[in-house]
Amino acid sequence: MTRKLFVTTALPYANAAFHVGHMMEYIQADTWVRLQRMLGHEVHFVCADDAHGAAIMIAAEKAGLTPQAFVAGIAGDRQKYLDGFHIHFDNWHSTDGPENHALARNIYLALRRNELIEVREVEQFYDPQKGMFLADRFIKGECPNCGAQDQYGDNCEVCGAVYAPTDLKNPVSALTGATPILRSSEHFFFKLSDPRCVEFLEAWTQDGRLQPEVANKVREWFKRDDDGKVSLGDWDISRDAPYFGIEIPDAPGKYFYVWLDAPVGYLASLQNLFHRLGIDMEAYLADPAVEQVHFIGKDIVTFHTLFWPAMLKFSGRKVPDHIYVHGHLTVSGAKMSKSRGTGISPLKYLELGLNPEWLRYYICAKLNARVEDLDFNPDDFVARVNSDLVGKYINIASRAAGFLHKRFAGKLSADLGVEGRVLLDGLRAHSATVCTHLDEREYGKALREVMLLADRVNGYVDRHKPWELARQPGMDAALHDVCSVCIEAFRVLTIYLKPVLPALAAQVEAFLKVPPMQWADAQRSLGHHVIGEYKHLMQRVDPKQLEALFEPPPAPAAPAPGGEALAPEIGIGDFTKVDLRIAKIVKAEAVEGSTKLLRLTLDAGEGRLRNVFSGIAMNVAPEQLTGKLTVMVANLAPRKMKFGVSEGMVLAASHADEKAQPGVFVLEPFPGAVPGLRVR
Ligand code: MSP
Ligand code: ZN
Repeated sequence: MTRKLFVTTALPYANAAFHVGHMMEYIQADTWVRLQRMLGHEVHFVCADDAHGAAIMIAAEKAGLTPQAFVAGIAGDRQKYLDGFHIHFDNWHSTDGPENHALARNIYLALRRNELIEVREVEQFYDPQKGMFLADRFIKGECPNCGAQDQYGDNCEVCGAVYAPTDLKNPVSALTGATPILRSSEHFFFKLSDPRCVEFLEAWTQDGRLQPEVANKVREWFKRDDDGKVSLGDWDISRDAPYFGIEIPDAPGKYFYVWLDAPVGYLASLQNLFHRLGIDMEAYLADPAVEQVHFIGKDIVTFHTLFWPAMLKFSGRKVPDHIYVHGHLTVSGAKMSKSRGTGISPLKYLELGLNPEWLRYYICAKLNARVEDLDFNPDDFVARVNSDLVGKYINIASRAAGFLHKRFAGKLSADLGVEGRVLLDGLRAHSATVCTHLDEREYGKALREVMLLADRVNGYVDRHKPWELARQPGMDAALHDVCSVCIEAFRVLTIYLKPVLPALAAQVEAFLKVPPMQWADAQRSLGHHVIGEYKHLMQRVDPKQLEALFEPPPAPAAPAPGGEALAPEIGIGDFTKVDLRIAKIVKAEAVEGSTKLLRLTLDAGEGRLRNVFSGIAMNVAPEQLTGKLTVMVANLAPRKMKFGVSEGMVLAASHADEKAQPGVFVLEPFPGAVPGLRVR
């Protein structure tokens, strides 16, 4: 029976270029899709940029672009990565496209009609300077648990504590440095705690469609407390303007939280594709035979196993059939940061002339169906590509093709001898297991099996030694048979590898002069077929190429003073916003209850004194400061701190990593300056 498959990968945030972790997800999904197509199934394979959210809005602002222009810049770069690694999506769209705006609103309205949307007042941090509510990651402060400085509003990178942004000590807005204030506003909630949702999700997540470890993790959400209540909470789906997103119907100034409209982008991309193909998406999705499959990483499981299926279900839509979750790729054991990526750049890989199919092969050789991380290890990469892929598989063709071409005009012998037929029957008999492994995403198992088959073929070659047969008179027929067996075997193995190595398979098809090979073609034989001339199919990796790949990028043109990278360029207008004044330190004193702060009383020539807290107590003694002149930021919004209000900030120099290189150096003007002078 022909399967009808709607397949997606996660929609990458449009705030950065792809890193090799993204490529891994696409390689996994692309391989699976290629297998399904070789089996004759019908697949629509789509993706899109995840364009919305506060992070992208802020990044665009920093780049001096509209969010739309910023996102378009990122999107314009995508294709060269995808083409470069032979990743073939049928469509690449954007969650900011018109289809997504319409679909997200329709889904929301259906949920509202179903009485699953509720409006509640929420108190949240607000940046009074920027005039916007702050997402957790735009609030920084001291960890309420361990006191570490400079921690984000959701969790502490030092001690791992998880908390609400309101728990932070001395919170500041990461956008402006202003002290955030609590402000309340109406938020829209999707009532996941509604018994209908709980009942549906519990059944949907536990009916065997998810990987066992994923189902187990998700089960936690359905644990009942003593009152029989589950811990599944309602989901806050709205954000206040300014926000780059989709406006909520009948709620001016309110936008969908990016994670509400992001998965809707799967449907929007499909709809955009179907518009071109002239297919009605709603009719397609209404077909019970259609399977909806999402490939995702382990960090976004909750969104895909709770929120997304519930959104679909209660808006009267088809729910996903499979969520295939993979672990994360690390590079030489190091984690990749979500935003920056690390280790190896996919573009640099291509630019250095490394073969993209080496990476496809290597990643697939290490992938299985479980949620396990996998490591890109350069030595392992070289070994697997050179000894397995080239040494075992490519070698088969190169050992036989020359003789066939030179001695037999490329014509294959149809009489393969008993041993040859047994060998080929053996290879063909593995078609179902290799196929099952690939279909179940056990790529490592599939490739190990193919390499064992390649070992058998090489054993056959070693026993029959075509290079000796070629020198012996009267052995032409034997040589012809042995070489024909090799080519036939090579063709069968190529079919098994084709989902992983599509470009190589295309080269082989050209060399063998056969049409694009389907999975079932492994079962037939070429017979008296004439093949083309063999051209070298794949090089070995030169370890030097990998060294180049891992070389750190050249140092930035502007040397980083003191080892700290320069902040993004600003205009003079940005600078003049900061009002710097000479101030006299009238008094400096320790603050009881704080080891870090000094309380400074400053005279900036205003006819009044200012109270300023400065985090320099560890490095500077109060008596060193009293009576001295210094420079202060005079127009900084007052900040309420635990010990009182701070009405400015004094300037001091320090190393990037204050822990490794302590020392704080307060600025002092040349003699002659007086309080109140502006520094410009
Ligand atoms: N925009 C969201 C997804 C929305 S889906 C409706 C997002 N974007 S992402 O760019 O951060 O990640 C995209 C995909 O790449 C996710 O599936 C994520 O798990 C995956 N990966 C991110 N880092 C990865 C590795 N280091 N290794 C493998 N996959 C990785 O999340
Ligand atoms: Zn902490």
